[in-house]
Amino acid sequence: MVQIAVLGYGTVGSGVLEVLQTNGESINKRAGKEIKVKYVLDRREFPGDPVSSILVHDIEPILKDPEVKVIVEVMGGVEPAYTFVKRALLDGKSVVTSNKELVAKHGAELLQIAKEKDINFLFEASVGGGIPIIRPLNQSLTADEIYEITGILNGTTNFILTKMKEEGLSFETVLKEAQDLGYAERNPEADVEGHDACRKIAILSSLAFGMHVDYEDIYTEGITKISQADMAYAAKMDREIKLVATSKKQEKEVWARVSPVLLRMDHPLSTVHGVFNAIFVKGNVIGDVMFYGKGAGKLPTASAVVADIVDAVKHLNRNIMSFWSTQKMELLDISYAPTQYFIRIGYTDLSLAIGQVEKVFGKIHIIQLDEYDDEFGFITNEETEGALKEKIALLSNSPGVYEIRNKIRVEQE
Ligand code: HSE
Repeated sequence: MVQIAVLGYGTVGSGVLEVLQTNGESINKRAGKEIKVKYVLDRREFPGDPVSSILVHDIEPILKDPEVKVIVEVMGGVEPAYTFVKRALLDGKSVVTSNKELVAKHGAELLQIAKEKDINFLFEASVGGGIPIIRPLNQSLTADEIYEITGILNGTTNFILTKMKEEGLSFETVLKEAQDLGYAERNPEADVEGHDACRKIAILSSLAFGMHVDYEDIYTEGITKISQADMAYAAKMDREIKLVATSKKQEKEVWARVSPVLLRMDHPLSTVHGVFNAIFVKGNVIGDVMFYGKGAGKLPTASAVVADIVDAVKHLNRNIMSFWSTQKMELLDISYAPTQYFIRIGYTDLSLAIGQVEKVFGKIHIIQLDEYDDEFGFITNEETEGALKEKIALLSNSPGVYEIRNKIRVEQE
């Protein structure tokens, strides 16, 4: 028998106990040993919940108990999770976590400790909820040089964009629903401002490129500026707006970005709706591979956590994954990355404004909607982010142009 402790009895923590309970027999068979949850740590009380018999409010008995071999950290947030996890690893206990903040910030150091101690620090659930992506990147795609990872990595924002489009609901109403369904972070700003997707693409990039990619170096833009008007233009152009996280090799350097993107309907990510996530990996040998599944929610995430628990239990005294080094990867400045923009211009004089736009961007194709009669939209040619930024700034003070209402990146393939 192997005894484990679960830190945090929130959405994911309660899901882990539920999965262990429901599928206990087959899980134990696969692990080759019986897995027993000895402690659950949480600040709160849960009257009437059977968890009460194993609930503790203090980490010390857990860390000091030599019978506990695996710690499951599903509390979220950097502290106290970091302190608890580091101490556990230093004490020789393997750790399984779903905490992307922790992995993005301290992953390199924690992996190093696990390696030195010949134990495991596993985090399949930190990216893509229930989708297996960490293991494939670490084990199955090792023959490849990966040159691009692009994905929809946040379930909450994808759920919001889908519902705004399909049901015409307001941003706030759908966000509330995503919170009620247990998709959103405790502070949903992390979802809607793109920070959660940013941490996830940092983790995937670190894995793919073998060096520590600092999430704070990644350009990040969320979906809070996306309006019903943007949705209407997207529909007119036969496109979908998605929050896309991407990390690409350009020559020998890598740039990374999180932002809303207008995708053509024949782009595979355009068909990813609701809480689903999808991750495209491009390798020089395998070509394109896509991973798809539920990216958030209690049971999909718990399923990935439990899979890691099984692996940790099977390999109690053997480090099984080599992830990335502590060496930091310097990312290429985003202003050198190529892109195209869809831009909406509010005008005071239409022909004057079109003339100004064409002076800056060359010949354009105007997109107009009857319901928004004081503005038009257009798509720029492909240039670097830096060059486009300068051109957009030029336009803001041009005669006939009242304001730039929004600008959204466009993916042509
Ligand atoms: N808030 C996250 C999401 C949870 O919506 O994707 C899963 O990491």
